[in-house]
Amino acid sequence: MNALHQAWEQLLKEKISEKQREIKEDPYRPFLHIAPPAGWLNDPNGLCQYKGVYHAFYQFAPFRAEGGLKFWGHCTSRDLLHWEDQGAALYPDQPYDCHGAYSGSALVEGDQMYLYYTGNVKLLGSYDYIETGRESNTVLAVSENGRTFQTKELLMTNEDYPEDLTKHVRDPRVFKLGNIYYMVQGARTKENRGVALLFSSEDKRTWTYIRRFEREGDYGYMWECPDLYEIDGRTVLSVSPQGMEQKGLCYANKYQSGTFFLDGDMQTGEVTGDFRELDAGFDFYAPQTFLADDGRRIQIGWMGMPDVPEHQNKTVEDGWQHIMTIPRELSIQDGILCQNPVQELDAWWNQKMSFTGSFQGELKPCCEWRLAVQGQVTVTLAEGLHLRYQEEEGIFWMEFTDASLGGGRGVRGREIKSLSSMRILVDVSCVEVFLNEGTDVFTTRFYPEKGREQIKICGKASGVCQWHQ
Ligand code: FRU
Repeated sequence: MNALHQAWEQLLKEKISEKQREIKEDPYRPFLHIAPPAGWLNDPNGLCQYKGVYHAFYQFAPFRAEGGLKFWGHCTSRDLLHWEDQGAALYPDQPYDCHGAYSGSALVEGDQMYLYYTGNVKLLGSYDYIETGRESNTVLAVSENGRTFQTKELLMTNEDYPEDLTKHVRDPRVFKLGNIYYMVQGARTKENRGVALLFSSEDKRTWTYIRRFEREGDYGYMWECPDLYEIDGRTVLSVSPQGMEQKGLCYANKYQSGTFFLDGDMQTGEVTGDFRELDAGFDFYAPQTFLADDGRRIQIGWMGMPDVPEHQNKTVEDGWQHIMTIPRELSIQDGILCQNPVQELDAWWNQKMSFTGSFQGELKPCCEWRLAVQGQVTVTLAEGLHLRYQEEEGIFWMEFTDASLGGGRGVRGREIKSLSSMRILVDVSCVEVFLNEGTDVFTTRFYPEKGREQIKICGKASGVCQWHQ
């Protein structure tokens, strides 16, 4: 442990406990969603199950709710719903990660947890910070207990990546197949195309570049946070592209997150077919998956979006900002990658109320509505967030008619041929809507005012509301 590490540790102790006292009063803190103890959270990192316990790390700027120098925050859970804060796990304390311990992933083997991440360095001077002025280092930190990570090893620098790339190479996602380790990293080429690089290794430390994934057409200038996995017989490449143009209702957010299928396995398959956005709402970026011990492929995304100052989060005044999505189980149904809340959620609710036809009543701060619907339906939450299926145009809309409730968010929509089921998960200041058994998902933050915690359902619907008491 070096002197810088010790200084960070001391500062974190003081600053976080100071902030945490303020956060106790915060009306917008969720019950079940991962939130930082104080400060700013972005991407999920190092998701894994280690010695039976779920670990989620995340991009963490502990000193300011508006962001800043990145550490890795850490929390653990036994049920994927209740998370215990474990403080900061990785600090920017080396010359090769001094401007941020950027995103990465975990590999669990035996009793050890290997965290791979990007050491970010921004040189001082007049640089474009694309082809010059930046270092993207691939770093490994190993832990014996899943909490302390004391030795760091620098594995790769920009010299080790292909020559046609800019300095933007990051977010290593590592996994093992057979006896070989694989690492996928996101990158920007000098021709401003987003690509994902695949490396392999036999010893977890020496990595060889083997191939890249790319797609002809307008898929952005940079791919962040790639993930690569096999599920239900398909190979999925998940990426978060920057720089895609909006096309009708698609790609309406500043940046996107979505998936391609490969037309073969990861060694030989090419990226074909459509890029499908994982979420059609306002707040979803940089998702990562992991394989649970029971074989489930579970995805957590950042319920936020970078570089959108017009979308406000009212928690900033309480000293923190951003949360994660609920962990979502992935599966393929009729050729589509579907996302549904982890099954642990069903078991947690212990209160239930059913209804048929239209309904109006109290919106509990943390609850789930499961509806079977027929034709046109509108669900209004907190008097200003409308979830509407417009049957004749075949579009599902998520629309705020109250700027304060949505913190400046407006409207998003997606074409959906027919709608039969709707699952709405509300947790104080966030809403996740799962349509048609998780085929389409809309996610947003929202900030209901006291006295307006209402739900109104208009249309042919029936179903249940569940909550925990
Ligand atoms: C995505 C991202 C990653 C990077 C991290 C830095 O949101 O830009 O590419 O590693 O955030 O916090």
